Amino acid sequence: MEELRNKYLDLIARAADEATIEDVRVAALGKKGEVALKMRELGGMSPEERQIMGPALNALKDEINTALTAKKAALADAALDERLRSEWLDVSLPVRPRRMGTIHPISQVTEEVMAILADMGFAVAEGPQIESDWYNFDALNMPSHHSARAEMDTFYMKTPAGSKEPPAVLRTHTSPVQIRALEKNGAPIRVIAPGRVYRADYDQTHTPMFNQVEGLCIDKNVSMANLKWVLEEFLSAYFGKRVKTRFRASHFPFTEPSAEVDVQCQWNNGYVTVGEGNDWLEILGSGMVHPKVLQNAGVDPKEWQGFAFGIGIDRIAMLKYGIPDLRAFFDSDLRWLRHYGFAALDVPTLHGGLSR
Ligand code: PHE
Repeated sequence: MEELRNKYLDLIARAADEATIEDVRVAALGKKGEVALKMRELGGMSPEERQIMGPALNALKDEINTALTAKKAALADAALDERLRSEWLDVSLPVRPRRMGTIHPISQVTEEVMAILADMGFAVAEGPQIESDWYNFDALNMPSHHSARAEMDTFYMKTPAGSKEPPAVLRTHTSPVQIRALEKNGAPIRVIAPGRVYRADYDQTHTPMFNQVEGLCIDKNVSMANLKWVLEEFLSAYFGKRVKTRFRASHFPFTEPSAEVDVQCQWNNGYVTVGEGNDWLEILGSGMVHPKVLQNAGVDPKEWQGFAFGIGIDRIAMLKYGIPDLRAFFDSDLRWLRHYGFAALDVPTLHGGLSR
């Protein structure tokens, strides 16, 4: 008995893992284990011997069981301690620096423009970039023989073979959204439509894709004076100062009368500053919406009238942020994007300031 006890307590003490513990348990207390075999010998003993050996064997069994349980718990504790030591993590360490993206000046300026004009009561409208010939031209009083069409350097889509429809176009301006918005909402209406437009043109101030924001205000007695006020208020809010503007009489098929607006600026070593100097940069076209356009959109021109304008978003971005070359806007050069880009949380609002 004493031998058995020492043997198994020693084996348990030296066991280094749970599997060994289990082996020891089976060898000692399993059905064919040494203690069990000893139990079986009780049957061949005299009653006196049995009275001594029985309780002694039971006590031995209990002692081994207790030792096994204690050792198991000790091994689990040790394993946990080891994990806590090796899987240690310093949650107070600063995070690794991560390169952050920037908001593109076009996105930023679009937000600025929307913030200003939303404050004047203009809602945002949208239209497709692939536009039908009707919405892009005809509805805007530019029939197919009209010379203004040729000036727009239009990108035409392929027509399906056998189609009698004129080809769809990449919209050359945001003006088709005037028609779509009027058809949808009728008059009175006050909307702006920012978005991409396309013309086959490429130099320092022209790219084949660029951005405009259309404005449309139709009501009972909206006049050219309202147009001029809205544009001047818009420009001084946008540039953060009173900038000199030049309204030039002009011609658009969809407005009558029409005016183009330039802002005063100066070019210095290829850099442009607005509000000083003797140069002018054209930034928008505008006018009183032509009665035929209202008619084409299902609005009665005898009852309603109003103004429209189309601002070059890229142009006013160049002017405000001193960006000399329009083409760089769309080169995706990371150095340029980091230099001219805006912080993601720098959201333009009238109360918080339009930009840094
Ligand atoms: N659609 C014209 C353009 O792209 C701009 C414009 C819009 C002019 C609205 C007058 C009224 O040049």
